[in-house]
This record gives sequence, C-alpha cells and structure tokens, in this order.
Amino acid sequence: MHLSPVGLSKHCFLVSLALCALLLLLIPTLQAPQRQGEPPQPRPHARLAKPRSGHEPHRTHNATVHQSAGNGKDSDVNQLPLPRGRRQGSWRVPKRDSTRASFPGSQSREPLEQKDIFIAVKTTRKYHISRLQLLFQTWVSKAKEQTFIFTDGEDKELKQKSGGNIINTNCSASHTRQALCCKMSVEYDKFIESQKKWFCHVDDDNYVILPSLLRLLSSYSHTQDVYLGRPSLDHPIEAAERVKSDGSMSVKFWFATGGAGFCISRGLALKMSPWASLGNFITTAEKIRLPDDCTVGYIIEALLEVPLMHTWLFHSHLENLQRLPTADILRQVTLSYGGVENRRNVVSIGGDFSLTEDPSRFKTVHCLLYPETHWCPRNIRN
Ligand SMILES: *[C@@H]1O[C@H](CO)[C@@H](O)[C@H](O)[C@H]1NC(C)=O
Ligand SMILES: *[C@@H]1O[C@H](CO)[C@@H](O)[C@H](O)[C@H]1NC(C)=O
Repeated sequence: MHLSPVGLSKHCFLVSLALCALLLLLIPTLQAPQRQGEPPQPRPHARLAKPRSGHEPHRTHNATVHQSAGNGKDSDVNQLPLPRGRRQGSWRVPKRDSTRASFPGSQSREPLEQKDIFIAVKTTRKYHISRLQLLFQTWVSKAKEQTFIFTDGEDKELKQKSGGNIINTNCSASHTRQALCCKMSVEYDKFIESQKKWFCHVDDDNYVILPSLLRLLSSYSHTQDVYLGRPSLDHPIEAAERVKSDGSMSVKFWFATGGAGFCISRGLALKMSPWASLGNFITTAEKIRLPDDCTVGYIIEALLEVPLMHTWLFHSHLENLQRLPTADILRQVTLSYGGVENRRNVVSIGGDFSLTEDPSRFKTVHCLLYPETHWCPRNIRN
C-alpha cells in the first residue's frame, strides 16, 4: 500500500522549499478554517514549552525506564477541581496546563456524558487475574458500558464479567512493537465503530478517575482536533520520515505515553483513518519502527500537524508516583502503580487499607471517590 500523499522527491525539493517559505509568509494572515455550525474557536495554545522540572521520567525508544526525581513541584498543574462535596485542600486552577489554558472560560463546551467516552484497556492474558480483577472491582465497575478490554486470549469468565465488552484482538501476547501496534490498531477500529465521542486508551495498571476524565473532556468539543496526554520525554522524539518521504529526512514530534493513558477526539480520530484504520496502523508503525504510542503521536503531530495537548493529569508507573501531592490525587485523571518490579512506587494516600491489603492504593482511591461502595470501610475518610 502506498500511503505517501506528498512524495517529496529530491528534484522537487527546492520548489518545495520555495513554497514553504511562501507559506510561512502567508500563515499569519490565514484564519483557521471554521467548521460549520460551530462558533469561532480560539486556536489551541502552543504546547507547554517543556516540563518545568526537567525531572520527568525518561523513556528510551524501547520503553526502558530511567526513574528520576519526581515532579512534585508541578503540583499546581496536577489538579482539576474536585466534585462538589469532595474537595480536599484548596481549589486551585492549574496555571501551566495547556489543557486548561487552551480554551479559557469554556469549561463546559458540550454536555458530555460518561457514555460518550470509549475507554480501551489494553491487557494481556497473563494479567487477566492479577491486574484486571482489581480494575473490575474498582473503577471499571463505574463505567462498565463504556470500558472495553483488549486482550490476546479467550477468557469466558472475563467475558461474563465485562458484559461482553472484551475483545480478543488475536494479536500476539508478546510485548513486542508488532504485538502492541496490533492491539492499538484493533482499539482504533472498535472505537470508530462505536460512534462514541472520545477515544481514551489506558493500560491495565491504570486507575481512571472518571469524574476527572469527564470534566477534562467536557472542556473541549469532540469535533475539534484534540489529542490529550502526558509526554514521557521532555523533548520531542525524532524519527526518520518514512511515510511522507523516503526516510532521508527526519521529523520531530511529541507523543503521549501510552502507560499514562491518552484521549483523542472523534474528529481527530477520523482524520487519522488513512494511517490508522483497518490495519494501516501496523503499516505506519512498521515504517517508522516505533512503538504504538509513538506511532499515534507520529500520525497526529507529524502527519496531521495537530499538536499534543500536554497534561500532567495522566500518570504512568514510569513516574515517581509518591511525589504526587496527596491533596491532588483525586483530581488526577489516571493513576498507576509500580507493580512487582517496584512495589513502593504508589501514590501516597492513606486510609483504612494497609499497604498489604491495597498495595496499588487503587482500593483506597476508589473508596474515597465512592465511599458508598459495599466493600469500603465506612470511615475510610477518617
Ligand atoms: C532497551 O534499552 C536499554 C537501554 O538503552 C538496553 O539496555 C536494552 O537492551 C534495550 N532493550 C531492547 C529490547 O532493545
Ligand atoms: C479473532 O479471531 C476470532 C476467531 O477467528 C474472530 O471471531 C474474531 O473476530 C477475531 N478478532 C478480531 C478482533 O479480529
């Protein structure tokens, strides 16, 4: 399949350069095209210059982690207001988060309901019990209709538990780039099929704070181009451009780290189709030879030229989660935990569950959000 819409060959390079220069001169006078029936939108802010602390966890292209000092200093950007009656600490508007700065004063652009969100949870057979049970016991129980489990093996019990919202991708169970991209490709297709307004991808070690997610997404319109997530690097990634050109040129782009979860509006997802639908995602990933989440960033930032909106409300196990201020935890959109390799990397939140009873702290978080849950100790909030 030939995906290249531009095909920049060497001899028209100079012509292209001249055109680029002309375009650059014209750009300031050009208005963003307006969609029919929509009021004029402020253009999304330029992305955050760079994560302030410089202590962001880094990730090499093969997903190796270098744990470093956390980003506790970013507390002012780590918050969304808590739901009514559930506030802890002071209410502070995040100042640096481009997700909020983008559309000032437009926090409820459209009435968004939880059922409008498609939440894809990526897992593998090996974790059906050790990881998914915890998710079903906690946040998934509050979003059963819109959560879809993408795995690589049959599991009758899980099928029943998920009300049929489990998809055997038939992808390999290995943690290779190909297997991961294969799953992302199926997630994309299922989302398009679902007709829902937002696509959110999370991993099986994420807790999704549903009220925060809903609040975040309702600040945007699903018809706009929105790509929201947390970069795992403090600089854009660079890759050889093998889709639009022959690989002799390189492109730089940001991508949202998959392990923290990310969301894409339907409007944008539809534009990704030539490079993402029906197996094209795998072709694209193979061309640039990067993992699934990088490929998503590549399609959106490099090919569609839509900037990632950087948000620090999403969290992966690659961060130092202990550094997240306790008072801000319930305002986040996703949380994670270190797992067997790093048991101590969990959010610092106290409650009636000991670390042994709740090593991930997900049960504690869940009972703070939903104290009426039958298995929550009644006085967990002290
Ligand atoms: C991933 O990168 C790390 C550090 O750069 C290296 O030690 C490791 O061998 C790499 N793993 C793979 C599978 O390439
Ligand atoms: C996986 O294979 C099964 C059996 O062949 C098939 O019914 C199912 O649709 C496949 N799943 C996907 C996502 O293609």
